[in-house]
Amino acid sequence: MKGRNKGMKKQVVSVVLTAAMAAGMLAGCGSSTSSSAGTSSAASSAAATSTAASSSASGADSSAASSTSAASSSVASTSAATTADASGQTVGIAMPTKSLERWNRDGSYLDDQFKDAGYNTELVFSDNKIDQQVKDIEGLIADKVDLLVVAAIDGESLTQVLGEAKDAGIPVIAYDRLIMNTDAISYYISFDNYTVGKLQGQFVVDQLDLDNAGDKTYNIEFTAGDPADNNATFFFNGAYDTLKPYLDKGTLKVPSGQTTFDQCGTAQWDTATAMKRFQNILGSYYSDGTQLDVALCSNDSTALGVAQAIESDYAGSNTPIVTGQDGDEANLANIVDGKQSMTVYKAVANEAVVTLDLGKAMLSGEKPDASLIDKSGWDFDCTYDTESYDNGTGIIPSYLLVPVVVTKDNMVKELVDPGYYTQDSDGYLHPTA
Ligand code: BGC
Repeated sequence: MKGRNKGMKKQVVSVVLTAAMAAGMLAGCGSSTSSSAGTSSAASSAAATSTAASSSASGADSSAASSTSAASSSVASTSAATTADASGQTVGIAMPTKSLERWNRDGSYLDDQFKDAGYNTELVFSDNKIDQQVKDIEGLIADKVDLLVVAAIDGESLTQVLGEAKDAGIPVIAYDRLIMNTDAISYYISFDNYTVGKLQGQFVVDQLDLDNAGDKTYNIEFTAGDPADNNATFFFNGAYDTLKPYLDKGTLKVPSGQTTFDQCGTAQWDTATAMKRFQNILGSYYSDGTQLDVALCSNDSTALGVAQAIESDYAGSNTPIVTGQDGDEANLANIVDGKQSMTVYKAVANEAVVTLDLGKAMLSGEKPDASLIDKSGWDFDCTYDTESYDNGTGIIPSYLLVPVVVTKDNMVKELVDPGYYTQDSDGYLHPTA
């Protein structure tokens, strides 16, 4: 479904353009009439941004967690004092880590959205450590937040702590990654994760024109994500299912023989881990001159490691297709430089907008359903899904946004024009949040 609502559009734009407004790059945008949140101002956005920026700069996630919450509370109490509709309610936002680029963006967008709407926020990052995330969420529960927005590090490890949230009457939104085996989750917000993988697979089909390959064969290797992340199998399956007909036919071959998710997974989506595994693959199966045509990587942090491995350890003279996901800054630079072929971009600024509108409805005692989409009138596609995501306790109603393929050819249209990134004169892109 697609809707259009100028207020909501401004809400997204007010977040993505915070930096641009501060830099005076888009004169006129700052004077737009107020969004449906009604409380957004350049000053409060700038305050929120500087909080996020200073916490990003502070290094280890663990120290950032407390300093960020402390800083958030002081900024937030200002906005709460000036805002009536959020009634001093506090939203606890738990992100996995600052070491993977996208979560810094998510944390900052979510924090800005809720603050601009007049809520207090507490934002924590848990250094990709499961125990720490449990402790951080316990801290948010102890602080009596009114709503929890959680992107899990390990989807299987939060059952107990979210049971505590439920007992305390705190509703939970699973953000981006489904949280398993708990009935404390009211909703799941993400992108269509299977489609992310399908887009990567289809990109390969199109680039190699596999439908017209005849007797030609191509070599492909897969790199998947973190087995602890429920999304990772969706991405892998989406790509694998799309390529399976060509693997079955023999048009695509996998010299390493590593074709299952378990064989291809990358703990914590770690770049160095992905690089080492790929160096081993190249050393074992390609050092005899075998040509690598495709490195199908589930996301950008793994694609970065794989591209490094190709650069250092691949003997061939062709440039293999490398896929990714997220639009991380270093990967976009690799796309500009021809070291990565595509990324699947997910506009996390919009994911934050959905989270705000869903959170607002939940905090006002509503029971949101598909109608939230029309009511909100978002300027982007989103579907309400009550079939795909079963977390072991039943289906979790989900709001799913739509990912897009970004290549060198469309990066300006998809990323720069909407205000998510700026482009330097040398052609490289930099995120605005
Ligand atoms: C997210 C991806 C991201 C990965 C690693 C997944 O859960 O959906 O966008 O690349 O985590 O951060």
